[in-house]
Amino acid sequence: MPDTVKNLELIDMPDMEKARSLINHIGLPHQPRVVMQALRETQKESPDFGRIVQIINSDTAMAAKILKLVNAPAWGLRQHISSISQALALLGIPRFNVLVITSALKEAVVGDDASLHTFWLHSVNVARGTEYILDHQHIFRNFSELIPEQVYLAGLFHDAAVPMIAKRYPLYREFFPFLLRERDRVPEVEFAKLGTYHHTISYILARSWGVAPMISETILSHHENGAVRVPGTMAMAKVSAALQLADYLDLIYQHKIGNITGVDTWPEEEWAETHEETLFQLDLDGAQLSDLIDDFFIFLGQQE
Ligand SMILES: [Fe+2]
Ligand SMILES: [Fe+2]
Repeated sequence: MPDTVKNLELIDMPDMEKARSLINHIGLPHQPRVVMQALRETQKESPDFGRIVQIINSDTAMAAKILKLVNAPAWGLRQHISSISQALALLGIPRFNVLVITSALKEAVVGDDASLHTFWLHSVNVARGTEYILDHQHIFRNFSELIPEQVYLAGLFHDAAVPMIAKRYPLYREFFPFLLRERDRVPEVEFAKLGTYHHTISYILARSWGVAPMISETILSHHENGAVRVPGTMAMAKVSAALQLADYLDLIYQHKIGNITGVDTWPEEEWAETHEETLFQLDLDGAQLSDLIDDFFIFLGQQE
């Protein structure tokens, strides 16, 4: 068991022991030392910007990947960014941290494996979707303890265990299209095959990468159809609901752009019926849900 996991205080889920033993087999990608050092510096009371830049630049390959990522349209910077210090100055510390974590996580779980493109797009879209939904529904305004950048990480990590498991168990790789197409059956099938769930492993990974406990815990509930596996605060219930909805929105989106085949569609009415509690938490009715879906797809389209 990696030390980063041994020393974590984790929620005691019934499948936790199985999850830990699976991690013993497949390993857990560790957060690169450079990332850890840079994040530690950003969390100081008076962070030293020069030091943060210096730490990131000490790993040239990582710095190059971060620069490539920040110049993607999704980051919304209108000018070309040519240095880490420019990225930090323009994004500010909270967004810069998300940028660094996104780049490192992609490298750790996807690497150069082109077959995981759809998976990674899903992770990023759910991250953006979770933040987008909470903003759209004015939830950040009413729950000041919710920080947009942290909420983004719930989406980014929610399925992060999937490629980790797939690397060790080729059968699970075939399972990935199934995971997207028939997501409602996923927990049952996964439990039968592994004795645990990808959301439990993703939760442990998020905690080991320093994602806030409350945010990480919402990952545990993302296949719960409106309910939560771990009861928590009202703010947490909002994030859980937004994560569940974002997960669904990206399914429709990936279907729309042709990345998921073999199913006709996911009717909104049907989803709304099984996710009454999710919609209630987000203060949405059926008509408002349709509007939100349209708005979110426009938002994604603008960032391509
Ligand atoms: Fe999932
Ligand atoms: Fe997902």
